[in-house]
Parts: sequence; structure tokens; C-alpha cells
Amino acid sequence: MVTVLRLWFVTLLLFSPVALSELCNPHDKKVLLQIKNDLNNPYLLASWNPDTDCCQWYCVECHPKTHRITSLVILSSVPETNFSGQIPPSVGDLPYLETLEFHKLPKLTGPIQPTIAKLTKLKELYISWTNISGPVPDFLAQLTNLQFLDLSFNNLSGPIPSSLSRLPNLLSLRLDRNRLIGPIPDSFGSFKRPGPSLVLSHNQLSGPIPASLSNIDPQRIDFSRNKLEGDASMLFGSNKTTQMVDVSRNLLAFDLSRVEFPTSLILLDLNHNKITGKIPVGLTAVDFLQGFNVSYNRLCGEIPQGGRLQKFDVDSYFHNKCLCGSPLPSCN
Ligand SMILES: *[C@@H]1O[C@H](CO)[C@@H](O)[C@H](O)[C@H]1NC(C)=O
Ligand SMILES: *[C@@H]1O[C@H](CO)[C@@H](O)[C@H](O)[C@H]1NC(C)=O
Ligand SMILES: *[C@@H]1O[C@H](CO)[C@@H](O)[C@H](O)[C@H]1NC(C)=O
Ligand SMILES: *[C@@H]1O[C@H](CO)[C@@H](O)[C@H](O)[C@H]1NC(C)=O
Ligand SMILES: *[C@@H]1O[C@H](CO)[C@@H](O)[C@H](O)[C@H]1NC(C)=O
Repeated sequence: MVTVLRLWFVTLLLFSPVALSELCNPHDKKVLLQIKNDLNNPYLLASWNPDTDCCQWYCVECHPKTHRITSLVILSSVPETNFSGQIPPSVGDLPYLETLEFHKLPKLTGPIQPTIAKLTKLKELYISWTNISGPVPDFLAQLTNLQFLDLSFNNLSGPIPSSLSRLPNLLSLRLDRNRLIGPIPDSFGSFKRPGPSLVLSHNQLSGPIPASLSNIDPQRIDFSRNKLEGDASMLFGSNKTTQMVDVSRNLLAFDLSRVEFPTSLILLDLNHNKITGKIPVGLTAVDFLQGFNVSYNRLCGEIPQGGRLQKFDVDSYFHNKCLCGSPLPSCN
């Protein structure tokens, strides 16, 4: 009898790990199963078996002590076409989430789910390479712990909400490759310094770049392939530490001669604009410049000789009004 009991106990240990050692919070487990159901039981979530500990499931992470779900990352390295539907409202019921990601899911559609506003512990929100549409919602400004906000490569439309500048901890904002219109908000100059890296390229943003951006010092700025016009000199200044600036393929028109460039620059791409004036001598002091392109503008005068400026090819300089000197033909 004792042996039989013992055998039964061993069997229980081997085959019922849940009953004895489940770490997963029951509320979180219920919510995850609801999410799986709302997404029509996609193959990606096949490991989400109600009989096992949800802390062991794919695509989620539990906190090491509280065992609450802190991360939900649904991504596919190849476009996952099996996966279709909208972001389920139940994602808003995982109150300890710090990371939420949906990536490379071409059949993920609908808006940015409003219940995401409830996830106030969120530090990282990535929804990229999907077909979500509608606006970049204002409610994202309530997620004051956000450090990384990446909504790139989607089908989002409408203007950029100015409220995003109220995110005090934001390190990186990516809204590139959508169908966003209107101006870059003036409020972006009031991001807490240094301000997040701003990648807003491949949209239909228009109007001037706000002068207020002189107040921030982001590591990276990519406003390329929009319809921005006027001045861009506020992105520079000798006391900034910005490393990458790409404003190529816009309608920018300003005098480059007077611009003071931060010596921290690694990349400067101004190609395809309507920029006038001369290339300032100060650029010869930018010692770590790796990428440089001022082609297809209206620049004139002699290219300053020295620093790294002659390390770049003709095609960094060609198609200007009257630029001359190495690597272009010499001035007469
Ligand atoms: C799509 O789903 C089916 C079953 O539902 C599965 O056999 C197939 O491997 C899935 N395709 C991918 C790319 O995951
Ligand atoms: C969005 O859907 C279209 C049409 O189904 C598809 O061609 C495109 O690749 C999708 N976009 C993304 C980013 O997956
Ligand atoms: C992109 O959004 C528009 C509406 O804003 C919609 O008409 C279009 O079908 C969407 N594209 C895809 C591929 O979902
Ligand atoms: C940099 O210079 C600008 C304009 O001269 C000034 O407004 C700003 O406060 C300076 N920033 C720092 C960090 O010194
Ligand atoms: C600079 O931009 C022009 C226009 O897009 C391009 O043809 C050229 O190859 C670029 N040069 C470099 C060095 O990237």
C-alpha cells in the first residue's frame, strides 16, 4: 500500500508540474489565455497551454520575485501571415507589463488598442512592421515610464500628437515609415534635455522644423524623406552632442555658411534640399565624421580643405550650384 502511494506521488510529481510548482499569477494566466483566444489561437502561441505554468510560455516573461507578467513580445523573424486580427483589448489587463511588442505581423490591423493606456508601468512599447492604422494616440503621453516608443513601419496616419513631449523618460521615439502628416510639434523643444532620439523619416510631415528644437540635444535625428521646409540650423550648434543628423530629401532652404556644427557628429546627410551658402570651415574640425552628403542642394564656393572633408567622394558633393575644390574639380 505504501509503495503504491509512493508511486502515485512520484507520478504526480512527474506529470503535474502545475499543481505543485506553478509560479504564474492566475489573473495573468487568464488574461494571456484570453489574448490567445482573441488572436484566434495563432501558431506562434502554441506553447500557451492552460495546463502548464505561464511563466514557462514563449513570448512572455515573469518577474523573478512577484512572478507577474512583465513582458509580452510577439514577434516573428519572417513576416508571420498566419497571425491576423487586432491588438486584443485584454493586453491592458496585464498591469505589471514593462515591455509590449508586436513585430513583423503584416496582418495585425486596427488601431493602437486604447486599453494600452492602462499599462502605466510600460517602459518599452514596440509596434512595428504591422498594418495597424489610425492615429498615433494622445493617450500614449500618459505612459510616463516609457523609455522606448517605436511605432515604425505601420499604416498610421494623422498628425504627431504634441503631448508626447510630456514623456519625461523617453530615450527614443520612432514614428518612421507611416503616413503621418502635419508639422513636427513645437512642444518637441520642451522634451527634458537631452531629449530622445527622434526618427520621423518616410512620412509626409510638412512645414518648418520648430525653432524650439535648439533647446534639445538628441543623440540622433532622422527627419529624412518628408516635406519639411525652411531652416534646419536649430538642429546644430557648437554646444550640442548630437551624433547623427539626416534631413535628406525635404524642402529645406537655409544658409549653411553660418551653421556651427557639433564636433560630435558622425553622420550628416543633407542631400536633396534647397540649401544655399558655403560649406563652413568648422566642419573640418569634426574629427569622427563617417557619413557626409550635401549633394543635390544649391551650395556654392570652395569646399574647405582639411579634416575629413576630402575623405568623401564626389557623390557626397555633386549636383550643387557652384561648389568647387577637392574632391570636386578645382575652383578657377
Ligand atoms: C501556420 O499555421 C499552421 C497551422 O495552423 C502551421 O502548420 C504553419 O506552420 C503555420 N505557419 C507558420 C509560418 O508559422
Ligand atoms: C500591410 O499589408 C499589405 C497588404 O496586405 C502588405 O503588402 C504590407 O507588406 C503590409 N505591411 C507590413 C509593414 O507588413
Ligand atoms: C491603411 O489604412 C487605410 C486607412 O487609413 C486603409 O484604407 C488601408 O486599407 C490600410 N492598408 C492596409 C494594408 O491595411
Ligand atoms: C547652447 O547654446 C544655446 C544658444 O546659444 C543656448 O540657448 C543653450 O542653453 C546652450 N546649451 C547648453 C547646454 O549650454
Ligand atoms: C549622396 O546622396 C546622393 C543622392 O541621394 C546619392 O546619389 C549619393 O550616392 C550619396 N553619396 C553618398 C556618399 O552616400
